[in-house]
Amino acid sequence: MSRGIFITLEGGEGAGKTTQIRMLATALQQQGYQVIVTREPGGTPEAEKIRDFLVKRDGGNWTPMAECLLLFAARQMHVEHLIKPALADGKIVISDRFADSTRAYQSFGHGLPLDTIEEINRLALGDFAPDLTFILDLPVPEGLARAGERLSAASSQEDRFERLGRDFHERLRQGFLTIARRDAERCRVIDATRGIEEIARDMLSQVQLDAQRKLA
Ligand SMILES: Nc1ncnc2c1ncn2[C@@H]1O[C@H](COP(=O)(O)OP(=O)(O)O)[C@@H](O)[C@H]1O
Ligand SMILES: [Mg+2]
Repeated sequence: MSRGIFITLEGGEGAGKTTQIRMLATALQQQGYQVIVTREPGGTPEAEKIRDFLVKRDGGNWTPMAECLLLFAARQMHVEHLIKPALADGKIVISDRFADSTRAYQSFGHGLPLDTIEEINRLALGDFAPDLTFILDLPVPEGLARAGERLSAASSQEDRFERLGRDFHERLRQGFLTIARRDAERCRVIDATRGIEEIARDMLSQVQLDAQRKLA
């Protein structure tokens, strides 16, 4: 079966996901791979509408369960309408966040049982999962400082999560690291305190190994 590679980038605010996705996509394209970059929540017109509810300051005061269901509603369409067709075409799909963010934010952050999220994940996506996940790990103060600079620069309205407390962001960080330990085959923890170029080289070499194996 000819199939592409599904890569996700995860981690807290300001960890460098968006920066690294741009660099990884450009490097892979230069090597001749067809690359699709997408993000969550989002990736389809319907999911971008749900994104507005979830990430904007005035988007609503959702319970963790309602938030989780909205995220998976968006994700189910993202997978069916965009990700799977691109993978069937042999493309590399890179998503800025995916299901691990729901595990980290809604379970480790907001206290929804992890089993509940896994059950919803199974109902919405079956056994579909990323081939490779990079967890960009950064101490919370550094991440918030980076995200804060970006926010004040862009006067973005998408700051609902940045505004949560320091404890929340610590739980999030530990959540991502726990997810990586439990699913060590799929997840690679990336030390995001390093320079942008060094992280990019590290990630590219890991993707190339997988790509040579899968797309050969
Ligand atoms: N390795 C790095 N070292 C220093 N600053 C970085 C690094 N990676 C990203 N940044 C900067 O930090 C900010 C947040 O990066 P961004 O890629 O938007 O993070 P995320 O998408 O994970 O929230 C940006 O201003 C970016 O230029
Ligand atoms: Mg980003």
